[in-house]
Amino acid sequence: MRHLLSAGDLSHREALSLLDMAEEMHEVQRRPIKKLPALRGRTIVNMFFEDSTRTRTSFEIAGKWMSADTINVSGKGSSVSKGESLRDTMLTLDAMGVDCFVIRHASSGAVAQTANWVRACVVNAGDGQHEHPTQALLDAYAMRQHFRASGVREAFEGKRIAIVGDLLHSRVVRSNVLLQRTLGGQVTLVAPPTLLPAGVESWGVTVSHDLDAVLPQADVVMMLRVQRERMAGGFFPTAREYSAGYGLTAERLARVRPDAAIMHPGPMNRGVEISSEAADAANSRVLEQVSAGVAVRMSVLYHLLGGEGGAR
Ligand code: NCD
Repeated sequence: MRHLLSAGDLSHREALSLLDMAEEMHEVQRRPIKKLPALRGRTIVNMFFEDSTRTRTSFEIAGKWMSADTINVSGKGSSVSKGESLRDTMLTLDAMGVDCFVIRHASSGAVAQTANWVRACVVNAGDGQHEHPTQALLDAYAMRQHFRASGVREAFEGKRIAIVGDLLHSRVVRSNVLLQRTLGGQVTLVAPPTLLPAGVESWGVTVSHDLDAVLPQADVVMMLRVQRERMAGGFFPTAREYSAGYGLTAERLARVRPDAAIMHPGPMNRGVEISSEAADAANSRVLEQVSAGVAVRMSVLYHLLGGEGGAR
């Protein structure tokens, strides 16, 4: 593995090996002293040209716990705001001897493009409406933990995963569909017709507009945020109507099986796509997802940079 740009690039073996190593990394997270020497002397630059709380912080923590030098660059404070092109910014930082770039960018495809320019390895931390592979991996990790805790041995094969919400603007759904295609989960997408991506018929998933009918069948219910910042308006009448049709409301929570996992990648809009009752329910795995995020990102960075990996 040279870069991590798309969840679809991972083979079954690679995906499982990333999840297995994340389990070992999760042990480190539980220790009082959270430091491994694994990436000592390696330099990781987190470049976030879009807002982020959990993804940026967890990549930074992951790098630090493995003793790498991690530096954060944000779009606003960098020379990009002086008119420098992304290519020149990347070539500049690459020339300093950086080993790995973790990049979030508002344009779909921009992260994959940078991988053609630099010697360092590149991790896609979210590109526009396209992909967010480490999110799909941490979701898979949290699902596997959930199934194991319920005594289920087969982690993904045949599991019914409902992904609900603003799928049109979501990079999380695309990466989850690609990863679950490899891991064996059966994905059902639920959204109003205006928030379904074009070409979804070819994704190998089931599509529904009836959340009430889908919920009792689901082993995992993943709610996605309504991404107002990417909308020019007109996708649904009002937030209240959206919530009535597609939100995981307190009433609808009764239709979710008690052994099913409720998930949300965050940030949550409580009262819109998810009620507080659902977000804080006993079977909500939202904070387990966050916790898995650090372990999975440690595993990804180790796979890319451990040994001889990284800049050439
Ligand atoms: C998501 C993202 O930025 O793609 N959040 C995340 O990384 N945890 C989803 C979102 O913004 O709704």
